[in-house]
Amino acid sequence: MHKAVHFKTTSMGSEPWSEKVKTLLANMQLHEKIGQLCQVSGNEGHVSDDLANQIRQGWVGSVINEVDPKTLQHLQHIAINESRLGIPLLIGRDVIHGFKTIFPIPLGQAASWSADLVEQAAAIAAQEASSIGINWTFAPMIDISRDPRWGRIAESLGEDPYLCSVLGAAMVRGFQGEQMSSGKNLAACAKHFAGYGASESGRDYATTNIPENELRNIYLPPFKVAAEAGVATFMSSFSDLDGVPASGNKWLMTEVLRDEWQFQGFVVSDWESIFQLQIHGLTANAKESALLAFDAGIDMEMVSNTYRNHLIELLDAKHIDIEQINVSVAKILTLKEQLGLFDNPELCSDLIPAFYHPDHLAVAKELATKSCVLLQNQNHCLPIDKHNIKNVALIGPLANDGYEQLGTWIFDGEPQHSITLLDAMREECGDAVTINYQAGMSHSRSHSTELFDPAIEAAQQSDVIVLCLGEEAILSGEAHCRADIDLPGNQTQLIDILSKLGKPIVMVLMAGRPLTIETVLPKVDSILYAWHPGTMAGPAISDLLFGNTSPSGKTPVTFPRKVGQIPIYYNQKHSGKPPTEAQCIYIDDIPQRSPQTSLGMAATHLDTHFSPLFEFGFGLSYSEFRYSELQLNQRQILPTDSLTLSFLLKNHGQYDAEEVVQVYIRDLVGSVTRPVKELKRFRRIKLAAGEQQQVTFTLTADDLAFYNRQMKLQSEAGHFHIWVGGSSACTLKQEFELLHD
Ligand code: NOJ
Repeated sequence: MHKAVHFKTTSMGSEPWSEKVKTLLANMQLHEKIGQLCQVSGNEGHVSDDLANQIRQGWVGSVINEVDPKTLQHLQHIAINESRLGIPLLIGRDVIHGFKTIFPIPLGQAASWSADLVEQAAAIAAQEASSIGINWTFAPMIDISRDPRWGRIAESLGEDPYLCSVLGAAMVRGFQGEQMSSGKNLAACAKHFAGYGASESGRDYATTNIPENELRNIYLPPFKVAAEAGVATFMSSFSDLDGVPASGNKWLMTEVLRDEWQFQGFVVSDWESIFQLQIHGLTANAKESALLAFDAGIDMEMVSNTYRNHLIELLDAKHIDIEQINVSVAKILTLKEQLGLFDNPELCSDLIPAFYHPDHLAVAKELATKSCVLLQNQNHCLPIDKHNIKNVALIGPLANDGYEQLGTWIFDGEPQHSITLLDAMREECGDAVTINYQAGMSHSRSHSTELFDPAIEAAQQSDVIVLCLGEEAILSGEAHCRADIDLPGNQTQLIDILSKLGKPIVMVLMAGRPLTIETVLPKVDSILYAWHPGTMAGPAISDLLFGNTSPSGKTPVTFPRKVGQIPIYYNQKHSGKPPTEAQCIYIDDIPQRSPQTSLGMAATHLDTHFSPLFEFGFGLSYSEFRYSELQLNQRQILPTDSLTLSFLLKNHGQYDAEEVVQVYIRDLVGSVTRPVKELKRFRRIKLAAGEQQQVTFTLTADDLAFYNRQMKLQSEAGHFHIWVGGSSACTLKQEFELLHD
């Protein structure tokens, strides 16, 4: 058993609790306090006697996974009218990328690089979910994800701390709104604190080993920004972090989150993750798990019962302190108050627009459109000129499947509301062009060739082939990781056959991760990467295919050539032997007896190029953007100065289009080594064909700061490179120097 814990507690008097919260606390019995720290699972559509009794007795602070509106009203009714103190319930649900109207998976949303649309999507999700009585979502997931084998990369905002921070904060604003008590907002939850995305080999729940410097510079920034954006709650990660699983990690939950960042909200565990401390081998039994987690700073336990079963006993034995319980309870009650639950707990507001309101669908379509990334466009195969063709073959198991296009984490999405690519292409083309649709495969993993023949026949009769392939929804998400991230099933074989017909081929890929598609590139003309785009997948993709809009999405994560390159990410360290084109050697070129030469002595593989297939930030347009005249307002700046950079962006192509302009820096010499490039700013800019614009950004010394060896956030004097461009491989560069004070 662990020793008695000495809390750094604050007396209740000096806490910022409202009179309401203080009065409640003063009147609560011990078990009612502990009840507030317990979240239980609903019974899906009814209220069992057991659950009703627990709520009546004050043993439940929150319910998860109940979405039947009448059942939710019933649960709140019991809490308010039949429990001694009438404290309403927090009703939690994973509203991850939409409630009924489903937006692109978060990784797709990140490909839009549009904080504005991401915020709007979260606000709509909040409106729809809150209209039935849900008041808390477990989003955003802001785990930095550098491993596409990890199924939960789909739920992430990609690999970059800055992009993830900006978009994560946008989601928090969208969910929570200006006033959480508006009746159309949700409390948000920053998850999974912290490091979950670094699960070894991309296996969900596997251990993570992240040195503190890397943790602070890469994995923690989005969480710090979410805390600054006022996120109401945090969720602890399932994973083991350097030997101390997050749900029992006091350094993380208290020293970093509360003491350093001054986070005022509360922390919920992940599903049974307190109980799992014992399975990790960190504690000997559930009682020790409860003590360790509570001492670490986990305020509420999700679903498992260690708090309910052991906190009273731990208190009696003076292992924990009533003041700390009071603080946790007060934080939970404060959120209930901020949500307005004490005033209007049973709300089902008629202010709320209906599900699938046309405005919601319009945002879903726009976000899906801006999420699609054009990876390749040989021979200007796209856009398809529908006035010059008669037949299009639309082939693939994902072309007409309303469920699969929604992606992972759509507990409440309804495929019957989806508009598929087939629906949308038929609508777009009317009678003028015939869409010859064939699935070709029963589902994305199929190993059968049974449906190939009709697909080949449709292709032979058409002027252009649109192949809609990729991964069905179940291949990504929690506990759905892949060791091989090639196109699954017989897809490559189907592509091989169709590529021999000599017809133009446009490949639309829906997937929850970047797939390894290097070998497929030469066999198709164009590739539009659509992730899982949600309810409005069809209209969004169809608009892009027929050129109603130009693609403008950019990859939020690096695409590897081969799975063996993983982890591969743009903001890597330089190493002492960075690879260059001239000096690399490949497996077939190695002489049988190696001469004494330094050729090939570089940080790369013998059997693939050192570059990724598609770098972070990459995405083509139907138009062509040119960057020039990069200028800085000064070459030397003091820590108190700001640096203004400007450049000319010109749309040189034939199409009106949007470009995501990106600003990267490199700190050339640091007290700890610095990444070869770091994203610092980005913006979407719309230009008509032929139009140009002067673009300006401002950076300060804070943007140059990083955690040094002493884990202090500081900028260091010295020389920097700064680039602007349309991807992380941009080359338009200037230099500046940060001077000492
Ligand atoms: C487990 C997942 O890790 C977490 O993200 C989710 O919010 C909870 N389950 C609740 O469903």
